[in-house]
Amino acid sequence: PDAAPQPSPQPPDGLSPAAGAAVADLRFPPGFMWGSSTSSYQIEGAAAEDGRTPSIWDTFSHTPGRTEGGDTGDVACDHYHRFRDDVALMSQLGLGGYRFSVSWSRVQPTGRGPAEQRGLDFYRSLTDELLEAGITPVLTLYHWDLPQELEDAGGWPERDTALRFADYARLVADALGDRIKLWTTLNEPWCSAFLGYGSGVHAPGRTDPADALRAAHHLNLAHGLATQSLRDVLPASAEVMISLNPAAVRPRSDSAEDRDAARRIDALATRVFTGPMLHGRYDEDLLADTARITDWSFVQDGDLAAAHQPLDGICVNYYTPSVVSAVEPDEDGPAPERRDGHGASEHSPWPGADRVVAFHQPPGEQTAMGWSIDSGGLTELLHRFHREAPGVPLYITENGAAYADEPDSEGRVHDPDRIAYVHEHLAAVHRAVEEGVDVRGYFLWSLMDNFEWAYGYGKRFGIVHVDFATQVRTPKSSAHWYADVARTGRLPA
Ligand code: NOJ
Repeated sequence: PDAAPQPSPQPPDGLSPAAGAAVADLRFPPGFMWGSSTSSYQIEGAAAEDGRTPSIWDTFSHTPGRTEGGDTGDVACDHYHRFRDDVALMSQLGLGGYRFSVSWSRVQPTGRGPAEQRGLDFYRSLTDELLEAGITPVLTLYHWDLPQELEDAGGWPERDTALRFADYARLVADALGDRIKLWTTLNEPWCSAFLGYGSGVHAPGRTDPADALRAAHHLNLAHGLATQSLRDVLPASAEVMISLNPAAVRPRSDSAEDRDAARRIDALATRVFTGPMLHGRYDEDLLADTARITDWSFVQDGDLAAAHQPLDGICVNYYTPSVVSAVEPDEDGPAPERRDGHGASEHSPWPGADRVVAFHQPPGEQTAMGWSIDSGGLTELLHRFHREAPGVPLYITENGAAYADEPDSEGRVHDPDRIAYVHEHLAAVHRAVEEGVDVRGYFLWSLMDNFEWAYGYGKRFGIVHVDFATQVRTPKSSAHWYADVARTGRLPA
């Protein structure tokens, strides 16, 4: 018979199963923050309004051949004009947190000099609207939209860009520090350095391995200097964090060669940032692996200490693991698996790097990005940071999936695949929490469909569907499902 589930006694850690709930429901800790994420260039539009100057993504997306279908962020989700409605939507969904980024060239046109008040006013109004709705704002200072003038002066491979970033951080903190408690400096600096200056699939589209490594170092320095700026200006209660996209790397086989390939990618994808930021060093194996590309003489005395700042939180963005193998010495060019898939180029640090390490598509289900679904990588990364930065709280600031969602004849958007993806990943987060990892919140990427960088508008990550011709927003079934999880703090069986 279908007996009602027996209430189970509350376990000592206050976690699942919840008293009175079905045994398989997973309960998250009280106060766990349920949010969603976006970024400025991907949603705002209003690219030339109120004093904003072009960023590298304006230039890149307007360059023929750089983005799918020539898509640009000129209009995007028109969030700059519709933010009140968008906050109302979040409020209807009962979200507790919202992570957004500030467009540098909107608040400090050209990347140096005085603030543009109209730009700051926009973020002030957005923040006030969020606070009134009871939604905690989480501000990212840099989500890839470098002012074009700073790129013209050399961009991230130049040291001065890090100094400019520290000034910009101070300017934003002066303006918004009275109302925002949670701050992150950079979003996924790996993408800025290696996709922007190495493989060139992101703005500014440069392809020089030495520049990619110089950029990585100056991003580390920028993070440290900006953290110091924020500490100077913000109240002591503010929390300063970093959002990284560490790689969950797996060797394709247990051979010594494949394990070494995994070690190389771990160094280039993750430790190149966590080394300086969490430990004040670059690991010897990273320096040795890259010795033929650079001598790292751009690292000046004091830089590693500057990059190594105490942090109030580490934020993990996670989508998919990487499976790698060593390329046989006599193999010339990319491994066969790479030739027609674009997923691998996302992970390859620069042209030619695939002569040493090959990326492989794992078997099994994939999202519309061609990314394999494997939530084990998320649990693994949460444990890694728990070990590496003991006592530092963790957040997931991005996780989600793209699918080709379109409204049905009744105008409803059903996205069961996304629900399954998020369900599986939340269960993976819960597992880490139960195992003792201090995870404070989860921000789903993304609140709404938006400009997916080089893929344009064709890849839909939102829990809210956007019709880009009319700007009509339609919450998908995943939005209703997620609202329920957020409201109850429970993941249904
Ligand atoms: C990471 C980036 O931070 C975000 O901008 C992007 O849209 C998602 N991943 C999905 O690719």
